[in-house]
Amino acid sequence: MFFLDSSDPKEIRDIFAWGVVSGVTTNPLIIAREAGAVDLEQRIREVVAVSRGHVSVELTTETEAEMLEEARVYYAWAPDRICIKVPFSEIGLRVTHALTKLSVPTNVTCLMSFNQAYLAALAGGTYVSIFSGRVRDMGYDVRPVITQTREQIEREDLDAKIIVGSVRHFMDVNESLDAGAHIVTTPPPILRKMLHNPKTDETIREFNTAWKNRGK
Ligand code: E4P
Repeated sequence: MFFLDSSDPKEIRDIFAWGVVSGVTTNPLIIAREAGAVDLEQRIREVVAVSRGHVSVELTTETEAEMLEEARVYYAWAPDRICIKVPFSEIGLRVTHALTKLSVPTNVTCLMSFNQAYLAALAGGTYVSIFSGRVRDMGYDVRPVITQTREQIEREDLDAKIIVGSVRHFMDVNESLDAGAHIVTTPPPILRKMLHNPKTDETIREFNTAWKNRGK
């Protein structure tokens, strides 16, 4: 499955119309880059209105009590749609576990290793987000992290789904899916790049030209 890694309502509306995307992920950096000092609630409500499935909204506070309160506020914006994105840490695990007990969906994020992803899945994370590009920035191959996490989830029949994010090239998408990702979350430009192949364009032009010139 694909999720869209964006907070841009126009892009999200356009691409959801293709029928290939099942959810949206945002993070504070994406929202700050795309919308500056926007009102977060207004932006997320716009995103919810033009999409389907879970919309991940990331916590920005750092104590357990603040994070749980922040999660309560975000979740109330659209309880059937909001997924709380919890940055991974010891506190993050406690928050994930507490939200799971309240039946609030969670996306445990910023995961760079199998061990972190396994802990996040055990704590009850609905999604565990492994960051392909950032793992590769450190010089490591992300594929064994994805495969090992998927195998462990299957072996223990855990509920977590693996999202691979931090996608920089569309080969990252193919490799993530091959390695065992349930979902890849892609920025809009990468999904758009998947549309194009010069041979496809040439073939369509040839067919349409033949049709226009038929009988001449
Ligand atoms: C997705 O959930 C992540 O927030 C996002 O893909 C991170 O991408 P980046 O590494 O390009 O910031």
